[in-house]
Amino acid sequence: MPNNLSLTIDAARLQAEIDTLATYSDAPAPAVTRILFTPTELEARDYVRGLMREAALSLREDAVGNIFGRWEGADDTLPAVATGSHIDAIPFSGKYDGVVGVLGAIEAVRALRQAGFTPQRPIELIMFTAEEPTRFKVGCLGSRALAGKLSPVKLLDLTDGDGNPFDAVRRQAGYIDSLDDVELPGGHYDSFVELHIEQGPRLEAAKLPLGVVTAIAAPATVRVQFEGSGGHAGTVLMPDRRDALPAAAELILSVEKIAQSSTSPDAVATVGLCHIYPGAVNSIASRVYIEVDIRDIDLTSRNRMVDTVVQVAKTIAERRKLEYEVVVLNADDPCTCGREVIGAVVESIEALGYPYQTMVSRAYHDTLFMADLCPTTMIFVPSQNGYSHRPDEYTAPEDIARGVEVLAHTLARLAGGTE
Ligand code: GLV
Ligand code: MN
Ligand code: MN
Repeated sequence: MPNNLSLTIDAARLQAEIDTLATYSDAPAPAVTRILFTPTELEARDYVRGLMREAALSLREDAVGNIFGRWEGADDTLPAVATGSHIDAIPFSGKYDGVVGVLGAIEAVRALRQAGFTPQRPIELIMFTAEEPTRFKVGCLGSRALAGKLSPVKLLDLTDGDGNPFDAVRRQAGYIDSLDDVELPGGHYDSFVELHIEQGPRLEAAKLPLGVVTAIAAPATVRVQFEGSGGHAGTVLMPDRRDALPAAAELILSVEKIAQSSTSPDAVATVGLCHIYPGAVNSIASRVYIEVDIRDIDLTSRNRMVDTVVQVAKTIAERRKLEYEVVVLNADDPCTCGREVIGAVVESIEALGYPYQTMVSRAYHDTLFMADLCPTTMIFVPSQNGYSHRPDEYTAPEDIARGVEVLAHTLARLAGGTE
């Protein structure tokens, strides 16, 4: 079936909005740092709310700060077709991760409206709270809660790195409603499609402008704390030491080896965070806190790596006579995307005549949790050099516009409706 709608995507306007959103940052340009519920992130939310209202979406916000912009359908009793992504950004990252799926979805709605389209089903645009785990240590906080995988009890248990409870932080940000009302029932949405930058090199290498996601890899996070005995770097002799940092160093090297020696080609493990206390050159580290990110497309392999990391951390601590705490913060299942939603994207792309490939996402996304609520897929656009989570992340405006065009046609197909 051809895409009957003739849509105009305003790539320049969208790029200007992406550039404006990037100015809401706690890092100097071109880097972007936008952490959940900081003053900067709250201002960025306001900017996005304004754009959603201008696109004539009616807004609702839930108790964890997910923002929903709804375009009523001709039959509003039908479950909505949903799209969206996130605008929070890890420290010193770029301006496209997540943002393309939020601002791009707004542009898709504007293009559909301008073409005179009226959806049969409602279309809902979701700006998810904290896809990134930076502040509260758990990725996809908003979508995880929507899917019922982060209960009110667990939400009340979350604290940030400074010990601030999630509940106090969200209330200070103006989100005071009951956490009991965040979870959505299965069937609430008809389908979900997320537009996102690829964040890897495969589309660019294949010289393809579009990817359609069939599955998302399984991520896990392990938190390790080693506690020894601090003291003076000159006066405590080596046989008397219980230094937490060499233990962490051993573990970090083991993490690398565990992933490298896996027989699974998609196995990856990373230590991207390490806090040393008290952190002075002439002071023995009394405590080290690290977080380990472990992923694979194959769940058995991922679980094996998690178990090994946990075991190795304990063995190192016991051998070195350290206190320790090892906690698996999350160990999520991979998701398989919905055949019919994939079909709607593929049909839209083929009708537009663009080349594409189907692919697995090695990064995680809110789609991983939306898949618990309804059939999903993602549309990927290329990342220059495969760079992401760094300031020089870049996707060309024409690639973003192509992704938005496909998203708009896909939403129209899934929602049904008239021109
Ligand atoms: C998402 O940001 C991820 O780390 O995959
Ligand atoms: Mn990210
Ligand atoms: Mn993202």
